[in-house]
Amino acid sequence: MASERVYNFSAGPSMLPLEVLEKAGSEITNFNGSGMSVMEMSHRSKVFIDIYDEVKSNMKDLLKVPDNYSILFLQGGGSLQFAMAPMNIMTTGKADYAITGNFSNIAYKEGKKYGTCNVAASSADKNHTYIPSQSELKLDSEASYFYYCDNNTIYGTEWKYIPETGSVPLVCDMSSNILTRPFDVSKFGIIFAGAQKNMGPAGVTLVVIRNDLIGHERPYTPIMMSYKEMVEKDSMYNTPPCYSIYILGLVLKWVKKNGGLQGMQKMKVERSKILYDYLEESKLFKSPVRPEDRSDMNVPFVTGSDELDKKFIKEAEAAGLVNIAGHRSVGGMRASIYNAMPIEGVKKLVEFMKDFELKNK
Ligand SMILES: Cc1ncc(COP(=O)(O)O)c(C=O)c1O
Repeated sequence: MASERVYNFSAGPSMLPLEVLEKAGSEITNFNGSGMSVMEMSHRSKVFIDIYDEVKSNMKDLLKVPDNYSILFLQGGGSLQFAMAPMNIMTTGKADYAITGNFSNIAYKEGKKYGTCNVAASSADKNHTYIPSQSELKLDSEASYFYYCDNNTIYGTEWKYIPETGSVPLVCDMSSNILTRPFDVSKFGIIFAGAQKNMGPAGVTLVVIRNDLIGHERPYTPIMMSYKEMVEKDSMYNTPPCYSIYILGLVLKWVKKNGGLQGMQKMKVERSKILYDYLEESKLFKSPVRPEDRSDMNVPFVTGSDELDKKFIKEAEAAGLVNIAGHRSVGGMRASIYNAMPIEGVKKLVEFMKDFELKNK
């Protein structure tokens, strides 16, 4: 077991702010004088409802969610939303999908179970190393929605623009870049994000949905997958993931204390610039991603030799830079540098890479 905390570059679940973990630790047996852990209390109790209401209101505040939207905290991860969105809002029997990586491809396959899904754009021709431009999107005006994944966790690409789709609502997976920069919620129909990268522990999934999209679910939609039911029951049709919601609340307070979404944006640019600047000058390490589409959250890189990649990963781990292997489907390395990654972690990684490059010329 590591005796000290390491810099954990995992793509998710990933690092949480130390301050948050320490606060949770201090309250683990007795939350706020209740004599109970948050893990032990009824989700209907006043003490938990107070936690829940504060989480919701801080989320609304941070994301500047307009009043004609509902905020949900659901279960089933980002993956359940791949089915929940079509079941609830594919009213014309058609939808547009942009396939820019693994998760949007899974969502597309899931969507096809409920109707005709048009591939409005795909970056598969270049192994998902870029994001298609607005002019490349082949839009269907009869689509019930346009689906895309804003940050591709495995391939390390990020949409730098919000697609223009006229009156067709956007359904957007922001699992790996929510809470990392301000953006205009009113441009979206549905936004969803699993918590386990920038928001908290696994188990809770944020859904922000425009109210006019609620109430159109198919008759066979399970209660647990009905946005209408979940909005009416304020996400508490059944027992919610109470502890994950509580930690999410601590993370939201940390985000606020650190400058809100503007603060997060400033920090993410600082972090990723250090890494990308070095990747540009390095003779050993390369980023496979088109420069203008690079993600500030997930930074894949390769040496070009599987053997050297493996050596790098092993030696990095011994130096306290852990979980830096790329996704099993693409190999190489990937540094996931979410909100909670201290800038010192990225500096230490780059120093380590420079040193490795010198020794492995
Ligand atoms: C962008 C993106 N969407 C969806 C998922 C799937 O999320 P979950 O594991 O919460 O179902 C992931 C998981 O890493 C992801 O990175």
